[in-house]
Amino acid sequence: MTIHRNFFPAAFAAAVFLAHSGMAIAPLAAQEQEPPRTLVQGRGVELTTARCVICHDAQHITRAKLSREEWAFNVKNMIERGAPITPEEIPQIVDYLATYYSRDSAPPAESAAAEAPVAAAAEDPAQRLLTANACIACHAVDRRLVGPGFREIAQRYRGDSAASELLARKIRDGGAGAWGQVPMPPHPQLTAADLGLMVSWIMKQ
Ligand code: HEC
Ligand code: HEC
Repeated sequence: MTIHRNFFPAAFAAAVFLAHSGMAIAPLAAQEQEPPRTLVQGRGVELTTARCVICHDAQHITRAKLSREEWAFNVKNMIERGAPITPEEIPQIVDYLATYYSRDSAPPAESAAAEAPVAAAAEDPAQRLLTANACIACHAVDRRLVGPGFREIAQRYRGDSAASELLARKIRDGGAGAWGQVPMPPHPQLTAADLGLMVSWIMKQ
């Protein structure tokens, strides 16, 4: 009984504080290391990226570590702000966030490990870059995820001599409108060489 009486007001107060000020997160942002720009791979990453990386970048999430109750509150809050999430999707997104961005427990070991072996195992340096930069959270070769499939991108721009430069710039700067209203986030960390490798690989699909 005591546990229940103390627990709920504390969790609620923390969530309200977070929702209104964002201050519970701000001190973390001051740390030297920049938070990752993409969500970590794991069950639910595609849905969470599709629904949550629309109005702001993924760093809003990757710099946060919240309890499950606080994530549930945050998701509710984002829906009130206009996030297009159906009631059935809420538990999947909260599960993902509470698993990989939890204040109370470390993310499952396979999530950190999962990305590295795939990246290391990929023979092709372009594929390695696509994995390491989490492009594959939003893109597949032969179907749409959040973004268009790499094959349909290649088909659209085949024979267009200006395409390589245009696509490299688009990946670096991000943007929307070519395939729909959902934007691609910018990737300012990529070098011209990396961009060139990825674009020529995509154009060969
Ligand atoms: C309709 C636009 C929109 C969508 C979609 C959206 N957010 Fe937000 N989010 C905001 C706004 C507006 C803020 C407050 C201003 C800011 O920090 O940029 C915010 C802030 C945040 C913060 C900082 C804490 C806070 O409350 O200020 C987190 C964490 C966050 N969002 C997570 C998410 C997650 C997780 C999702 C997906 C469930 C999501 N957002 C989807 C609009 C959105
Ligand atoms: C958060 C999801 C997301 C991530 C991460 C992402 N993309 Fe995209 N990408 C999209 C969306 C959405 C579009 C469609 C944008 C539009 O309609 O203009 C897109 C479009 C593209 C296009 C076609 C651009 C055009 O103008 O036709 C290419 C090429 C591309 N992405 C490559 C990449 C590469 C390479 C990476 C990794 C460095 C990456 N994307 C990461 C969502 C993403």
